[in-house]
Amino acid sequence: MLEPSFGGCGFLEAARDALIALGCAMPSESIYGCDIDPIAFDHLAEVFGSPVDTSGFVLGDFLDRQNEAQWPAKFSAILANPPYIPHHKIDRGKLKKLAAEPGVVSDIGGRSSLWAYFISHSLSYLALGGRMAWVLPGAFLQADYAAPIRLHIAEHFRRSLAIVIRERIFLTEGTDEETVVLLADGYGDKEVGRKSELGEARTVDDLAALIPQWDGGEWRGITTAICPAMLSMDELAITSFDALKAKPVATTLGAVARVQIGIVTGDNDFFILSQEGARAAGLEEADCTPVLAKFRATKGLSFKRADMAEYLEGGGRALLIDSSCSPDNQRVRDYLASFDVERRAKISTFKKRTIWSAPNDGNCPHAFLPVMHHEGPRLVLNDLNCVSTNTVHRVFFHADVTENIQRLASISMLTSFSQISAELVGRRYGSGVLKHEPRDAERIDLLLPKMKPEMLDQAVTAIDKALREGGQAEAMKLADKLIFTACGIAVGRTSKLFRDALQSMRLRRRPERRKLP
Ligand SMILES: C[S@@+](CC[C@H](N)C(=O)[O-])C[C@H]1O[C@@H](n2cnc3c(N)ncnc32)[C@H](O)[C@@H]1O
Repeated sequence: MLEPSFGGCGFLEAARDALIALGCAMPSESIYGCDIDPIAFDHLAEVFGSPVDTSGFVLGDFLDRQNEAQWPAKFSAILANPPYIPHHKIDRGKLKKLAAEPGVVSDIGGRSSLWAYFISHSLSYLALGGRMAWVLPGAFLQADYAAPIRLHIAEHFRRSLAIVIRERIFLTEGTDEETVVLLADGYGDKEVGRKSELGEARTVDDLAALIPQWDGGEWRGITTAICPAMLSMDELAITSFDALKAKPVATTLGAVARVQIGIVTGDNDFFILSQEGARAAGLEEADCTPVLAKFRATKGLSFKRADMAEYLEGGGRALLIDSSCSPDNQRVRDYLASFDVERRAKISTFKKRTIWSAPNDGNCPHAFLPVMHHEGPRLVLNDLNCVSTNTVHRVFFHADVTENIQRLASISMLTSFSQISAELVGRRYGSGVLKHEPRDAERIDLLLPKMKPEMLDQAVTAIDKALREGGQAEAMKLADKLIFTACGIAVGRTSKLFRDALQSMRLRRRPERRKLP
């Protein structure tokens, strides 16, 4: 077996014990490894006893190993917990080289984390029929750059399984990231269209119990989609969801609107002030432009002047300074002149702008959508006609989308159907937050059935009120009733089915935390 980055030798120790359990008299002769850090070699004696034969262990970069003389040509097993270094932290020259030599899995490109290159490269060392196990970050399931790897593994192994671990197992190493354990068996058994299985373990103990069950064929993961939210969808929920998706009134946000990130100021603390901050800086409120810098400033179906006023009164920061909006204003000039000149020269966002002090591009959207959230996205209409910063997406409806359709879309986004869709296309991060990049957000499914304007007016009033009173769940029920009825489906049953699935998806997003010692 091969461990391409054996570090503290934890996996080597486990491999040694497994080989002994299988009756192997000299496990050290079957275990090989590599690590770039000489300190890793200090641990070898703890696993294999002194004096240790290090001839099977290579000091150096695993990605540079080609037909390594110290190793057999192929291994029957690979066991790995690779480094998770993101692409922007990999040396540029190295990354260029990695992108140019694509390894076994093609199309990984030059924007992947190091673990992805490790998987691809390690496959050149795996024997036909071989198996492997990897401890990977959650990005394995969600990153776009990992898509070719997911596909390659599904189609080139007889069976493969990704297990999401809800317990955060690397908290002591300072990361709150989700962990995925990938198991793959029977390398070289190619079948186009074959899917990987997906499962979940609450804790590492649960994982330990699950692996032998999968190995023995007593348990299988789901194969509907390699997306953690799918674990919450039973057959009935999937069929009902797909049936709604197939309706002619079903569409996507991207079919009616374009989603774009908000403005990037380069220094929010300087450019976005509270009322108090503006006063302290010698500025008047009229010197500033209102900006939506925190999605929580929105309360209902639309963002109004009164919402902004309430947010500012509560001490929120929403006053944008921009030199081009008030070129002759001496107070603004004085304030901008207070920015440290040396620091100014270092901020890359400023360098990209024609005028460093003009962050407002003036592109006021029709609506807003949060970038990250815990409780599902809301499509909030922009009554105030302001811009947002890049924590809030800007939504621009296409020219043929009437105001009534825009209002209908904002309601439709709240249905359990669209909220499930948002969970399916979104990406989960550390604390269990859901994130939508603009292109992900455009993939959210919406139902836009025909509706009488009076009915829509009434619904907008009722749902806006429910949201403002804090009744997210109530708002969803009202939205379901309105939209599902107009689509001609049984509201009560479908809404309950979807709301239950949604609740489970959101619960699954939350990490299981053990108290640190
Ligand atoms: C997460 S640790 C592995 C821990 C190990 N599986 C264990 O059981 O203790 C990652 C290891 O990758 C090593 N590493 C980082 N870059 C590497 C590279 N390019 N080639 C080989 N090893 C590398 C680090 O030195 C570190 O020991």
